[in-house]
Amino acid sequence: MLRSLRLEHAKRLSELANNEKVSRNLRDGFPNPYTEADAENFLQKFSNQDPVTFFGIDYNVVYVGNISLVPCQDIYRMSAEIGYFIGEPYWNKGIVTTAVNLISEYGFSHLGIVRIQTGIFEYNTASQRVLEKCGFVKEGIFRKSVFKQGKLWDEVRYAKLKPGM
Ligand SMILES: CC(C)(COP(=O)(O)OP(=O)(O)OC[C@H]1O[C@@H](n2cnc3c(N)ncnc32)[C@H](O)[C@@H]1OP(=O)(O)O)[C@@H](O)C(=O)NCCC(=O)NCCS
Repeated sequence: MLRSLRLEHAKRLSELANNEKVSRNLRDGFPNPYTEADAENFLQKFSNQDPVTFFGIDYNVVYVGNISLVPCQDIYRMSAEIGYFIGEPYWNKGIVTTAVNLISEYGFSHLGIVRIQTGIFEYNTASQRVLEKCGFVKEGIFRKSVFKQGKLWDEVRYAKLKPGM
């Protein structure tokens, strides 16, 4: 289930997020180590949005991670960028595949967008598999565009269009 973020989840969020195996797949704006204060700052910024673009993911009524769909700007405003993570104990249970499908339906029906896109670091094959299972198309490679962990990496670009486009 996707739901609005809750301020009282700061401790839980820091426990889920404070993991190098998570942060290595995300932009440097996602801190490592990830403290409770980092979680409080994030939740204060994104827990009262209208429309909601950052969601908590609940699995069997337990908070396991976040997913976001952020509209792009200017001439790209009919597109949105998707992002997500869940805590390591919950990997490989189909959770993010379900979450990506849910937020994609929400975006196409409530945010007025026609395209959802993102870039995945070349070594993150699990995330690439998630998007392929959700009907995203690999559109290209941004060669050596990512600098992470002291090295340059390719970014694999994926997108999905609103059904019928
Ligand atoms: C990547 C991530 C989002 C996947 O979420 P998840 O809920 O575990 O994904 P799902 O269970 O829905 O699907 C994972 C798929 O990847 C596959 N997979 C897992 N590890 C893999 C690997 N090392 N190589 C290739 N495929 C892999 C699984 O087998 C599964 O595919 P299948 O259903 O065909 O068997 C999760 O591991 C995560 O949050 N990682 C840290 C943060 C991150 O990478 N965020 C995305 C940044 S772009």
